[in-house]
Amino acid sequence: MKQARQLTPVKGFSKLSREAKTEWLISHYAKDPVKGHELLESYRHADPAVQRLHDEFIENTLTNYYLPFGIAPNFLIDGDLYALPMAIEESSVVAAASKAANFWLERGGFHTEIISTTKIGHVHFYWMGADPEVLRKKVADFVPAFEAATDRITANMRARGGGIISIQLVDKTELEKGYFQLAVKFDTRDSMGANFINSCLEAIAESLQQEMASAHDLSEQDRQVEVIMRILSNFTPECLVRASVSCPVDAIEEGSGIGNAAFAERFVRAVRIAEIEPYRAVTHNKGIMNGIDAVVIATGNDFRAVEACAHAYAARNGQYGSLTHAKIEDGVFHFWIDMPLSLGTVGGITSLHPMVKFALEILGQPSAEKLMRICAVAGLAQNFSALRSLVTTGIQKGHMKMHLLNILNQLEATDEEKARIVEYFKDKVVSHQAAVEIFCQIRGIHAEQLATRKH
Ligand code: MEV
Repeated sequence: MKQARQLTPVKGFSKLSREAKTEWLISHYAKDPVKGHELLESYRHADPAVQRLHDEFIENTLTNYYLPFGIAPNFLIDGDLYALPMAIEESSVVAAASKAANFWLERGGFHTEIISTTKIGHVHFYWMGADPEVLRKKVADFVPAFEAATDRITANMRARGGGIISIQLVDKTELEKGYFQLAVKFDTRDSMGANFINSCLEAIAESLQQEMASAHDLSEQDRQVEVIMRILSNFTPECLVRASVSCPVDAIEEGSGIGNAAFAERFVRAVRIAEIEPYRAVTHNKGIMNGIDAVVIATGNDFRAVEACAHAYAARNGQYGSLTHAKIEDGVFHFWIDMPLSLGTVGGITSLHPMVKFALEILGQPSAEKLMRICAVAGLAQNFSALRSLVTTGIQKGHMKMHLLNILNQLEATDEEKARIVEYFKDKVVSHQAAVEIFCQIRGIHAEQLATRKH
Protein backbone atom coordinates (compact mmCIF):
# COMPACT_ATOMS: atom_id res chain seq x y z
CA MET A 1 0.00 0.00 0.00
CA LYS A 2 1.20 3.52 -0.78
CA GLN A 3 2.48 5.56 2.19
CA ALA A 4 0.67 8.90 2.65
CA ARG A 5 3.18 11.72 2.27
CA GLN A 6 3.81 13.86 5.34
CA LEU A 7 3.77 17.39 3.98
CA THR A 8 4.21 20.59 5.93
CA PRO A 9 3.91 24.13 4.53
CA VAL A 10 7.16 25.81 3.64
CA LYS A 11 7.93 29.35 4.84
CA GLY A 12 10.05 31.93 3.00
CA PHE A 13 10.32 29.70 -0.09
CA SER A 14 10.97 32.56 -2.50
CA LYS A 15 14.02 33.61 -0.45
CA LEU A 16 15.75 30.23 -0.86
CA SER A 17 18.42 29.69 -3.51
CA ARG A 18 17.36 27.82 -6.64
CA GLU A 19 19.32 24.79 -5.46
CA ALA A 20 17.55 24.83 -2.10
CA LYS A 21 14.15 25.26 -3.77
CA THR A 22 14.90 22.33 -6.07
CA GLU A 23 16.06 20.20 -3.17
CA TRP A 24 12.92 21.02 -1.18
CA LEU A 25 10.65 20.25 -4.13
CA ILE A 26 12.35 16.99 -5.01
CA SER A 27 12.56 15.73 -1.46
CA HIS A 28 8.87 16.46 -0.85
CA TYR A 29 7.18 15.68 -4.14
CA ALA A 30 9.34 13.74 -6.61
CA LYS A 31 8.94 9.98 -7.02
CA ASP A 32 12.54 9.48 -8.11
CA PRO A 33 14.86 12.19 -6.72
CA VAL A 34 17.73 11.41 -9.09
CA LYS A 35 15.51 11.56 -12.17
CA GLY A 36 13.77 14.67 -10.82
CA HIS A 37 17.09 16.51 -10.44
CA GLU A 38 18.28 15.35 -13.85
CA LEU A 39 15.10 16.45 -15.54
CA LEU A 40 15.03 19.92 -14.04
CA GLU A 41 18.71 20.41 -14.81
CA SER A 42 18.47 19.13 -18.37
CA TYR A 43 15.79 21.68 -19.28
CA ARG A 44 17.96 24.61 -18.18
CA HIS A 45 19.65 26.60 -20.94
CA ALA A 46 23.33 25.92 -21.62
CA ASP A 47 24.12 29.63 -21.70
CA PRO A 48 23.94 30.98 -18.13
CA ALA A 49 23.07 34.49 -19.37
CA VAL A 50 20.03 33.20 -21.29
CA GLN A 51 19.00 31.02 -18.39
CA ARG A 52 19.28 34.01 -16.06
CA LEU A 53 16.74 35.89 -18.20
CA HIS A 54 14.29 33.03 -17.80
CA ASP A 55 15.01 32.71 -14.11
CA GLU A 56 14.13 36.36 -13.69
CA PHE A 57 10.90 36.37 -15.72
CA ILE A 58 8.98 34.94 -12.75
CA GLU A 59 9.42 33.99 -9.11
CA ASN A 60 10.71 30.59 -8.05
CA THR A 61 11.95 29.53 -11.51
CA LEU A 62 13.62 26.15 -11.35
CA THR A 63 13.94 25.29 -15.02
CA ASN A 64 12.24 25.89 -18.37
CA TYR A 65 9.15 24.45 -19.95
CA TYR A 66 9.45 23.72 -23.66
CA LEU A 67 6.76 24.08 -26.30
CA PRO A 68 7.40 23.30 -29.96
CA PHE A 69 8.18 26.41 -32.00
CA GLY A 70 6.99 25.78 -35.56
CA ILE A 71 6.59 27.80 -38.71
CA ALA A 72 3.61 28.07 -41.04
CA PRO A 73 4.93 29.57 -44.29
CA ASN A 74 3.23 31.11 -47.33
CA PHE A 75 0.84 33.50 -45.63
CA LEU A 76 0.02 36.20 -48.15
CA ILE A 77 -1.30 39.08 -46.03
CA ASP A 78 -2.17 42.38 -47.70
CA GLY A 79 0.21 41.54 -50.53
CA ASP A 80 3.21 40.57 -48.36
CA LEU A 81 4.42 37.04 -47.69
CA TYR A 82 4.92 35.93 -44.09
CA ALA A 83 6.11 32.80 -42.34
CA LEU A 84 4.16 32.66 -39.09
CA PRO A 85 5.96 31.57 -35.93
CA MET A 86 3.72 29.34 -33.81
CA ALA A 87 4.38 28.01 -30.32
CA ILE A 88 1.90 25.23 -29.61
CA GLU A 89 1.75 21.62 -28.49
CA GLU A 90 -1.32 20.46 -30.47
CA SER A 91 -0.19 18.20 -33.32
CA SER A 92 -2.34 19.44 -36.18
CA VAL A 93 -2.38 23.22 -35.69
CA VAL A 94 0.70 24.25 -37.67
CA ALA A 95 -0.16 21.81 -40.45
CA ALA A 96 -3.70 23.20 -40.65
CA ALA A 97 -2.43 26.80 -40.72
CA SER A 98 0.04 25.98 -43.49
CA LYS A 99 -2.67 24.25 -45.50
CA ALA A 100 -4.97 27.27 -45.29
CA ALA A 101 -2.08 29.59 -46.16
CA ASN A 102 -1.33 27.61 -49.32
CA PHE A 103 -5.00 27.44 -50.25
CA TRP A 104 -5.48 31.22 -50.04
CA LEU A 105 -2.06 31.98 -51.54
CA GLU A 106 -3.53 30.90 -54.85
CA ARG A 107 -6.71 32.91 -54.33
CA GLY A 108 -5.46 36.40 -53.56
CA GLY A 109 -4.36 35.86 -49.97
CA PHE A 110 -5.70 37.43 -46.78
CA HIS A 111 -6.81 41.02 -46.41
CA THR A 112 -6.91 42.94 -43.18
CA GLU A 113 -8.20 46.20 -41.81
CA ILE A 114 -7.53 47.82 -38.44
CA ILE A 115 -10.90 49.06 -37.21
CA SER A 116 -9.64 50.76 -34.05
CA THR A 117 -6.81 50.52 -31.50
CA THR A 118 -8.31 52.05 -28.36
CA LYS A 119 -7.69 50.41 -25.00
CA ILE A 120 -9.52 51.09 -21.78
CA GLY A 121 -9.08 50.99 -18.02
CA HIS A 122 -11.18 52.04 -15.04
CA VAL A 123 -11.03 53.63 -11.65
CA HIS A 124 -13.86 51.80 -9.88
CA PHE A 125 -15.14 53.86 -6.97
CA TYR A 126 -18.06 54.45 -4.65
CA TRP A 127 -19.57 57.87 -4.09
CA MET A 128 -22.64 58.17 -1.88
CA GLY A 129 -23.62 61.77 -2.72
CA ALA A 130 -27.27 62.50 -3.46
CA ASP A 131 -26.93 64.09 -6.91
CA PRO A 132 -24.70 62.41 -9.55
CA GLU A 133 -24.74 65.67 -11.51
CA VAL A 134 -22.55 67.21 -8.78
CA LEU A 135 -19.99 64.46 -9.33
CA ARG A 136 -20.21 64.76 -13.11
CA LYS A 137 -19.43 68.49 -13.00
CA LYS A 138 -16.53 67.96 -10.63
CA VAL A 139 -14.99 65.19 -12.73
CA ALA A 140 -15.23 67.38 -15.84
CA ASP A 141 -13.44 70.17 -13.93
CA PHE A 142 -10.76 67.78 -12.68
CA VAL A 143 -9.69 66.46 -16.08
CA PRO A 144 -6.76 68.93 -16.34
CA ALA A 145 -5.67 67.81 -12.84
CA PHE A 146 -5.83 64.18 -13.96
CA GLU A 147 -3.72 65.04 -16.98
CA ALA A 148 -1.20 66.85 -14.80
CA ALA A 149 -1.08 63.87 -12.43
CA THR A 150 -0.20 61.56 -15.32
CA ASP A 151 2.03 64.01 -17.17
CA ARG A 152 5.31 62.28 -16.34
CA ILE A 153 3.93 58.79 -16.93
CA THR A 154 2.50 59.68 -20.34
CA ALA A 155 5.40 61.83 -21.62
CA ASN A 156 7.14 59.07 -23.61
CA MET A 157 3.90 57.63 -24.91
CA ARG A 158 2.75 61.09 -26.05
CA ALA A 159 6.08 61.57 -27.82
CA ARG A 160 5.26 58.38 -29.76
CA GLY A 161 1.79 59.68 -30.66
CA GLY A 162 -0.16 57.83 -27.96
CA GLY A 163 -1.37 58.56 -24.45
CA ILE A 164 -4.70 59.20 -22.78
CA ILE A 165 -7.54 59.70 -25.25
CA SER A 166 -10.40 60.50 -22.88
CA ILE A 167 -11.52 60.36 -19.25
CA GLN A 168 -15.22 59.94 -18.59
CA LEU A 169 -17.44 59.41 -15.60
CA VAL A 170 -19.70 56.37 -15.89
CA ASP A 171 -22.69 56.09 -13.57
CA LYS A 172 -23.26 52.46 -12.57
CA THR A 173 -25.68 53.18 -9.74
CA GLU A 174 -28.52 51.38 -11.50
CA LEU A 175 -26.55 48.21 -10.95
CA GLU A 176 -25.08 49.01 -7.55
CA LYS A 177 -25.79 51.88 -5.14
CA GLY A 178 -22.95 54.41 -5.17
CA TYR A 179 -20.88 52.66 -7.85
CA PHE A 180 -19.20 54.91 -10.42
CA GLN A 181 -16.25 54.57 -12.76
CA LEU A 182 -13.75 56.81 -14.39
CA ALA A 183 -13.45 55.13 -17.77
CA VAL A 184 -10.11 56.10 -19.27
CA LYS A 185 -9.33 55.37 -22.91
CA PHE A 186 -5.78 54.98 -24.14
CA ASP A 187 -3.68 54.71 -27.25
CA THR A 188 -0.63 52.65 -26.28
CA ARG A 189 0.99 52.56 -29.73
CA ASP A 190 3.21 49.47 -30.11
CA SER A 191 3.06 48.37 -26.50
CA MET A 192 0.32 46.21 -25.05
CA GLY A 193 0.30 48.92 -22.41
CA ALA A 194 -0.91 47.11 -19.28
CA ASN A 195 1.68 48.66 -16.97
CA PHE A 196 1.31 52.05 -18.58
CA ILE A 197 -2.48 51.99 -18.24
CA ASN A 198 -2.40 50.76 -14.64
CA SER A 199 0.15 53.41 -13.64
CA CYS A 200 -2.01 56.14 -15.21
CA LEU A 201 -5.12 54.83 -13.46
CA GLU A 202 -3.40 54.78 -10.08
CA ALA A 203 -2.28 58.39 -10.54
CA ILE A 204 -5.76 59.45 -11.72
CA ALA A 205 -7.44 57.72 -8.77
CA GLU A 206 -5.17 59.50 -6.31
CA SER A 207 -5.81 62.79 -8.03
CA LEU A 208 -9.58 62.18 -7.92
CA GLN A 209 -9.47 61.60 -4.19
CA GLN A 210 -7.29 64.66 -3.56
CA GLU A 211 -9.36 66.96 -5.75
CA MET A 212 -12.62 65.80 -4.21
CA ALA A 213 -11.26 66.10 -0.67
CA SER A 214 -10.30 69.73 -1.30
CA ALA A 215 -13.57 70.68 -3.07
CA HIS A 216 -14.82 72.77 -0.16
CA ASP A 217 -17.92 73.86 -2.02
CA LEU A 218 -19.17 70.27 -1.54
CA SER A 219 -20.73 68.84 1.58
CA GLU A 220 -18.59 66.61 3.81
CA GLN A 221 -20.43 63.56 2.41
CA ASP A 222 -19.99 64.61 -1.23
CA ARG A 223 -16.23 65.04 -0.76
CA GLN A 224 -15.84 61.35 0.12
CA VAL A 225 -14.71 59.03 -2.68
CA GLU A 226 -13.88 55.43 -1.92
CA VAL A 227 -11.63 54.05 -4.63
CA ILE A 228 -12.03 50.30 -4.85
CA MET A 229 -9.75 49.38 -7.79
CA ARG A 230 -7.68 50.94 -10.58
CA ILE A 231 -7.13 48.48 -13.37
CA LEU A 232 -7.07 48.13 -17.14
CA SER A 233 -9.81 46.11 -18.78
CA ASN A 234 -8.75 43.14 -20.85
CA PHE A 235 -12.05 43.53 -22.68
CA THR A 236 -10.95 45.69 -25.61
CA PRO A 237 -13.80 45.67 -28.15
CA GLU A 238 -12.41 48.93 -29.52
CA CYS A 239 -9.02 47.40 -30.26
CA LEU A 240 -10.34 45.55 -33.25
CA VAL A 241 -9.01 44.08 -36.47
CA ARG A 242 -10.80 42.43 -39.39
CA ALA A 243 -9.20 39.73 -41.53
CA SER A 244 -10.94 38.34 -44.57
CA VAL A 245 -10.63 36.10 -47.60
CA SER A 246 -12.85 35.80 -50.63
CA CYS A 247 -12.92 34.08 -53.97
CA PRO A 248 -15.49 33.12 -56.58
CA VAL A 249 -17.30 29.94 -55.55
CA ASP A 250 -16.16 28.44 -58.87
CA ALA A 251 -12.52 28.96 -57.86
CA ILE A 252 -12.77 27.05 -54.61
CA GLU A 253 -11.79 23.73 -56.18
CA GLU A 254 -12.17 22.18 -52.82
CA GLY A 255 -11.16 18.71 -53.90
CA SER A 256 -13.22 16.50 -51.60
CA GLY A 257 -15.61 15.60 -54.36
CA ILE A 258 -18.74 17.36 -53.06
CA GLY A 259 -18.44 20.17 -55.61
CA ASN A 260 -17.58 23.85 -55.17
CA ALA A 261 -21.10 25.18 -54.65
CA ALA A 262 -22.09 22.48 -52.17
CA PHE A 263 -18.84 22.96 -50.29
CA ALA A 264 -19.26 26.73 -50.06
CA GLU A 265 -22.86 26.41 -48.90
CA ARG A 266 -22.01 23.80 -46.30
CA PHE A 267 -19.17 25.96 -45.08
CA VAL A 268 -21.46 28.98 -44.66
CA ARG A 269 -23.95 26.80 -42.81
CA ALA A 270 -21.24 25.52 -40.49
CA VAL A 271 -20.37 29.12 -39.62
CA ARG A 272 -24.08 29.90 -39.20
CA ILE A 273 -24.42 27.05 -36.71
CA ALA A 274 -21.52 28.51 -34.71
CA GLU A 275 -23.20 31.92 -34.84
CA ILE A 276 -26.40 30.65 -33.26
CA GLU A 277 -25.41 27.64 -31.16
CA PRO A 278 -23.10 28.20 -28.18
CA TYR A 279 -22.12 24.53 -27.85
CA ARG A 280 -20.69 24.63 -31.34
CA ALA A 281 -19.45 28.23 -31.04
CA VAL A 282 -17.13 27.41 -28.15
CA THR A 283 -15.39 24.65 -30.11
CA HIS A 284 -15.38 26.74 -33.28
CA ASN A 285 -13.76 29.66 -31.43
CA LYS A 286 -11.37 27.32 -29.64
CA GLY A 287 -10.11 26.30 -33.07
CA ILE A 288 -9.67 29.96 -34.01
CA MET A 289 -7.70 30.51 -30.82
CA ASN A 290 -5.46 27.54 -31.71
CA GLY A 291 -4.00 29.74 -34.42
CA ILE A 292 -4.11 33.06 -32.59
CA ASP A 293 -2.67 31.82 -29.29
CA ALA A 294 0.18 30.05 -31.05
CA VAL A 295 1.34 33.31 -32.68
CA VAL A 296 0.56 35.32 -29.57
CA ILE A 297 2.73 33.01 -27.44
CA ALA A 298 5.55 32.88 -30.01
CA THR A 299 5.63 36.69 -30.03
CA GLY A 300 5.71 36.96 -26.24
CA ASN A 301 2.23 38.35 -25.79
CA ASP A 302 -0.29 37.69 -23.04
CA PHE A 303 -2.47 34.88 -24.36
CA ARG A 304 -4.66 34.86 -21.23
CA ALA A 305 -5.65 38.46 -21.93
CA VAL A 306 -6.27 37.67 -25.59
CA GLU A 307 -8.36 34.61 -24.71
CA ALA A 308 -10.43 36.39 -22.05
CA CYS A 309 -11.17 39.22 -24.46
CA ALA A 310 -11.99 36.96 -27.39
CA HIS A 311 -14.66 35.07 -25.48
CA ALA A 312 -16.15 38.19 -23.90
CA TYR A 313 -16.34 39.67 -27.39
CA ALA A 314 -17.97 36.52 -28.71
CA ALA A 315 -20.69 37.00 -26.08
CA ARG A 316 -21.01 40.78 -26.41
CA ASN A 317 -24.58 40.61 -27.70
CA GLY A 318 -25.78 38.52 -24.77
CA GLN A 319 -25.28 35.14 -26.41
CA TYR A 320 -21.98 33.45 -27.09
CA GLY A 321 -21.37 33.05 -30.83
CA SER A 322 -18.85 32.64 -33.60
CA LEU A 323 -15.95 35.05 -34.03
CA THR A 324 -15.95 34.34 -37.77
CA HIS A 325 -18.65 34.95 -40.36
CA ALA A 326 -19.24 33.78 -43.91
CA LYS A 327 -21.54 34.46 -46.82
CA ILE A 328 -21.95 33.80 -50.51
CA GLU A 329 -22.87 36.88 -52.50
CA ASP A 330 -23.14 37.11 -56.29
CA GLY A 331 -21.26 33.85 -56.66
CA VAL A 332 -18.43 34.98 -54.40
CA PHE A 333 -17.51 33.22 -51.16
CA HIS A 334 -16.60 35.60 -48.31
CA PHE A 335 -15.16 34.56 -44.99
CA TRP A 336 -13.97 36.94 -42.27
CA ILE A 337 -13.19 37.47 -38.61
CA ASP A 338 -13.59 40.53 -36.42
CA MET A 339 -11.14 40.06 -33.62
CA PRO A 340 -10.34 42.24 -30.62
CA LEU A 341 -6.60 41.92 -30.03
CA SER A 342 -4.57 43.93 -27.56
CA LEU A 343 -0.97 43.13 -28.45
CA GLY A 344 2.47 44.61 -28.07
CA THR A 345 5.67 44.44 -30.07
CA VAL A 346 7.68 46.53 -27.62
CA GLY A 347 7.89 46.15 -23.84
CA GLY A 348 7.11 43.07 -21.79
CA ILE A 349 9.42 40.20 -22.73
CA THR A 350 9.50 41.20 -26.41
CA SER A 351 13.08 42.46 -26.22
CA LEU A 352 14.24 39.86 -23.69
CA HIS A 353 13.13 36.35 -24.64
CA PRO A 354 15.51 35.16 -27.39
CA MET A 355 12.82 33.13 -29.22
CA VAL A 356 10.34 36.00 -29.01
CA LYS A 357 12.93 38.36 -30.46
CA PHE A 358 13.53 35.87 -33.25
CA ALA A 359 9.79 35.44 -33.89
CA LEU A 360 9.41 39.20 -34.23
CA GLU A 361 12.45 39.33 -36.48
CA ILE A 362 11.00 36.77 -38.90
CA LEU A 363 7.75 38.77 -38.95
CA GLY A 364 9.82 41.81 -39.99
CA GLN A 365 9.70 43.65 -36.62
CA PRO A 366 5.98 44.34 -36.93
CA SER A 367 4.15 47.20 -35.27
CA ALA A 368 1.41 46.22 -32.82
CA GLU A 369 -1.13 46.91 -35.60
CA LYS A 370 0.71 44.63 -38.00
CA LEU A 371 0.81 41.91 -35.37
CA MET A 372 -2.95 42.33 -34.84
CA ARG A 373 -3.45 41.75 -38.56
CA ILE A 374 -1.18 38.69 -38.56
CA CYS A 375 -2.83 37.11 -35.52
CA ALA A 376 -6.34 37.67 -36.87
CA VAL A 377 -5.23 35.97 -40.09
CA ALA A 378 -3.82 33.04 -38.10
CA GLY A 379 -7.23 32.63 -36.44
CA LEU A 380 -9.15 32.88 -39.70
CA ALA A 381 -6.81 30.41 -41.41
CA GLN A 382 -7.14 27.94 -38.59
CA ASN A 383 -10.92 28.16 -38.68
CA PHE A 384 -10.92 27.75 -42.45
CA SER A 385 -8.93 24.53 -42.24
CA ALA A 386 -11.03 23.15 -39.40
CA LEU A 387 -14.34 23.88 -41.17
CA ARG A 388 -13.01 22.65 -44.48
CA SER A 389 -12.33 19.26 -42.91
CA LEU A 390 -15.43 19.26 -40.71
CA VAL A 391 -17.86 19.78 -43.59
CA THR A 392 -16.15 17.19 -45.78
CA THR A 393 -13.93 14.35 -44.54
CA GLY A 394 -14.20 15.09 -40.80
CA ILE A 395 -11.23 16.26 -38.76
CA GLN A 396 -9.96 12.93 -37.49
CA LYS A 397 -8.26 11.98 -40.74
CA GLY A 398 -5.83 14.91 -40.68
CA HIS A 399 -5.73 15.26 -36.92
CA MET A 400 -4.86 11.64 -36.20
CA LYS A 401 -2.24 11.60 -38.92
CA MET A 402 -0.48 14.42 -37.11
CA HIS A 403 -1.10 12.77 -33.73
CA LEU A 404 0.35 9.43 -34.87
CA LEU A 405 3.88 10.29 -33.73
CA ASN A 406 2.58 11.12 -30.24
CA ILE A 407 0.95 7.70 -30.05
CA LEU A 408 4.14 6.03 -31.25
CA ASN A 409 6.24 7.99 -28.78
CA GLN A 410 3.90 6.88 -25.98
CA LEU A 411 4.49 3.31 -27.12
CA GLU A 412 8.23 4.02 -27.12
CA ALA A 413 8.52 2.95 -30.74
CA THR A 414 12.02 2.96 -32.27
CA ASP A 415 12.81 5.22 -35.24
CA GLU A 416 12.59 2.24 -37.55
CA GLU A 417 9.21 1.18 -36.16
CA LYS A 418 7.95 4.75 -36.49
CA ALA A 419 9.05 4.95 -40.13
CA ARG A 420 7.31 1.65 -40.95
CA ILE A 421 4.10 2.62 -39.16
CA VAL A 422 3.95 6.10 -40.72
CA GLU A 423 4.41 4.44 -44.13
CA TYR A 424 1.68 1.91 -43.28
CA PHE A 425 -0.82 4.68 -42.51
CA LYS A 426 -0.02 6.70 -45.65
CA ASP A 427 -3.28 5.61 -47.28
CA LYS A 428 -5.26 4.66 -44.16
CA VAL A 429 -7.15 6.52 -41.44
CA VAL A 430 -5.22 6.55 -38.17
CA SER A 431 -6.90 5.55 -34.94
CA HIS A 432 -5.30 4.88 -31.57
CA GLN A 433 -6.44 1.25 -31.71
CA ALA A 434 -5.12 0.71 -35.24
CA ALA A 435 -1.76 2.28 -34.34
CA VAL A 436 -1.40 0.02 -31.30
CA GLU A 437 -2.36 -3.04 -33.35
CA ILE A 438 0.19 -2.44 -36.09
CA PHE A 439 2.85 -1.57 -33.51
CA CYS A 440 2.24 -4.87 -31.68
CA GLN A 441 2.31 -6.75 -34.95
CA ILE A 442 5.66 -5.24 -35.97
CA ARG A 443 7.15 -5.81 -32.51
CA GLY A 444 5.75 -9.32 -32.41
CA ILE A 445 3.97 -8.80 -29.09
CA HIS A 446 0.35 -9.02 -27.91
CA ALA A 447 -1.59 -5.95 -26.84
CA GLU A 448 -1.86 -7.46 -23.31
CA GLN A 449 1.93 -7.58 -23.07
CA LEU A 450 1.94 -3.92 -23.93
CA ALA A 451 -0.43 -3.15 -21.09
CA THR A 452 1.72 -5.15 -18.63
CA ARG A 453 4.86 -3.47 -19.91
CA LYS A 454 3.42 0.01 -19.47
CA HIS A 455 2.09 -0.40 -15.91
C1 MEV B 1 -9.33 21.27 -32.28
O1 MEV B 1 -8.28 21.76 -31.47
C2 MEV B 1 -10.10 22.42 -32.87
C3 MEV B 1 -11.35 22.04 -33.66
O2 MEV B 1 -12.21 21.24 -32.85
C4 MEV B 1 -12.02 23.32 -34.05
C5 MEV B 1 -13.40 23.15 -34.66
O3 MEV B 1 -14.09 22.18 -34.34
O4 MEV B 1 -13.77 24.07 -35.41
C6 MEV B 1 -11.00 21.21 -34.87
